[in-house]
Amino acid sequence: MQAQCLTEVSKATALLQQGGLVAIPTETVYGLAANGLDAIAVARIFEAKKRPFFDPLILHVGSLEQAQGLSSRWPEKAQQLAQAFWPGPLTLVVPKSEHVPDLVSSSLPSVGLRMPKHPLTLSLLQSLEFPLAAPSANPFGYVSPTTAQHVLDQLGNAIEAVLDGGPCEVGIESTIVSLMGDEIHLLRLGKISQEELERVVGPVQRQLSVKGAVQAPGQLEQHYSPFCQLYLLEPGQEVPIWEAESAYVPFSNPTASAWPQDHLLALSQSGDLNEAAAKVFSILRQLDTLGFKKAWIELAPNQGLGLAINDRLRRAAAR
Ligand code: TXA
Ligand code: MG
Repeated sequence: MQAQCLTEVSKATALLQQGGLVAIPTETVYGLAANGLDAIAVARIFEAKKRPFFDPLILHVGSLEQAQGLSSRWPEKAQQLAQAFWPGPLTLVVPKSEHVPDLVSSSLPSVGLRMPKHPLTLSLLQSLEFPLAAPSANPFGYVSPTTAQHVLDQLGNAIEAVLDGGPCEVGIESTIVSLMGDEIHLLRLGKISQEELERVVGPVQRQLSVKGAVQAPGQLEQHYSPFCQLYLLEPGQEVPIWEAESAYVPFSNPTASAWPQDHLLALSQSGDLNEAAAKVFSILRQLDTLGFKKAWIELAPNQGLGLAINDRLRRAAAR
């Protein structure tokens, strides 16, 4: 049965209380949500996404107290980061409490917690007596969804509903920080930069990809990939000449290219990093829906949000 498209929080509340799967809007990307304390509901998330069980889920909370109750130890630095950036695009990995099902944490001793900023989802969370487990609402390994339609296109048959909150403002997933050790580790780049984190809690070590055990599939070398084969260009690098079935995605200023207009998809018209982040996943999807087999993509300038955009593009292009 095709999922319902909802605009009212109350219907989503009821479905989630019954153990249902509802895709939810957040400021980063759409999430595929279920009752995070109900292992059976959580198992359905893995099934719908075809996600391997070694990949832990983030729990979304509606209050700071709820987050504290889901951890067995709430570090002072978690408190400082939550106060500075929640609600917002930051996930904190902390020691998990025994209430958190092992399926959520993939049997790790930790749990990822985040208070999202989208007003519909915040009021949804505040209407529920449990947190929502929610990975990005895409089949495992594919591009993350930034509109309700993206979710329906791919998971419409596997879930009960999507709560439509419009296009996501940020467009790439939350920054993830681990507070499990003495040092703070940055596990995934996002809208909140390392510098912004360091202004609040001091030095942060980057641990974006690890050899051996992967702590976060966002750390997998290949992820976020469309079917179209991507080739990366350094900023300003010249693009090869046009070929049939191929597209060119410059970072900005598409009009300066000799490529045919219908093979050109710029990340940002004006060279703005926020706009490029909000559009990057939509553009990767469009490459598939428009039937391109190959695309040359120009990386963003390597600074600020450009680092997070380039992280996604590099993983999307890896084979
Ligand atoms: O912005 C976001 O974070 C979105 C929205 C929906 O909130 N969610 C999201 O979830 O991106 P997902 O599952 O696609 O990515 C979460 C990442 C995964 O790479 C997972 O491995 C990592 O977070 N993660 C979750 N719990 C963790 C833990 N306890 N330790 C280390 N990494 C964890
Ligand atoms: Mg994901």
